[in-house]
Amino acid sequence: MEIKHIFVVGAGTMGSGISQTAAVSGYQVTMMDVVPEQLERARKIIAKSVEKLEGKGVIDQPQVDAAGQITYVDSYAAVAGADYVIEAATENPELKLKIYAELDHLAQPEVILASNTSSISLTKIAAATGRTDKVIGMHFFNPVPLMRLVEIIRGLATSDETTATAMELARRMGKDPVEANDSPGFISNRILCPMINEAIFALQEGIGTVEAIDAVMKLGMNHPMGPLALCDLIGLDVVLFVMEVLQRDLGDDKYRPAPLLRKMGDAGYLGRKTGKGFYAY
Ligand code: 3HC
Repeated sequence: MEIKHIFVVGAGTMGSGISQTAAVSGYQVTMMDVVPEQLERARKIIAKSVEKLEGKGVIDQPQVDAAGQITYVDSYAAVAGADYVIEAATENPELKLKIYAELDHLAQPEVILASNTSSISLTKIAAATGRTDKVIGMHFFNPVPLMRLVEIIRGLATSDETTATAMELARRMGKDPVEANDSPGFISNRILCPMINEAIFALQEGIGTVEAIDAVMKLGMNHPMGPLALCDLIGLDVVLFVMEVLQRDLGDDKYRPAPLLRKMGDAGYLGRKTGKGFYAY
């Protein structure tokens, strides 16, 4: 089936970036969120991002116009007319399973359901549907319009055909897909989140200040941003959730979340999205 119309679930940072990237790549995009204010926020994020990219000559005016054509809806009904679904809802397993049951019920039977989950098992998500061969992970990276990688994760029953389609779609969205197996954190977050968590332990133990820890990783390891600034970008709640999944599902306490990470989350310091994390925004 030729993919023309993509239905994106979730209008957060990732859903916005995915919708924008799909739209400027020539796809018709419908973006769905049950919270109307979230849709309004997404519209603004996308407008700002495309304006910036157009100013730099990365995209042209027809692509800016294409991003302006994204349809914003607050119900699942339009998924019936979609050729492909990318879900980027909150990382809450119970919520995700409910969303998949709904998508499975409403989307055409041949449609692939791709999840942008950062750590929930694709095999488990697929089991909430009657199309386990057509469920796959498409893990994008923040900020989506700039980051080249899409991690493609197969669940136990994901077919070769579904995998090939997802890889091709990622390429058509201008990304470089890389395959990973369905294991907690996949490749990316199995490596990235423990590094960030260790940086938080180093801060908590007074080994260095926020600025010093980030400077060491930027200047000594050539990382584009330090781990604490990156944690603010990703969201402290997301990093905590991934660490909890790694600790529980791999059964190894070497993945225990730093107490400071938990404490800051309790205080509502979730990073850029709340205006405060390791830095103030
Ligand atoms: N759209 C358009 N432009 C954007 C943008 C967006 N969404 N986000 C940032 N930019 C622009 C900035 O406005 C800036 O433009 P300017 O030069 O005209 O001011 C330009 O990009 C460069 O940004 P900065 O000057 O702020 O900083 P950098 O040069 O460091 O680039 C970065 C920013 C691309 C984010 C770079 O720091 C980087 O690559 N950081 C690492 C990001 C990363 O690791 N992401 C993965 C997170 S993990 C994840 O998402 C998975 C999840 O499961 C946890």
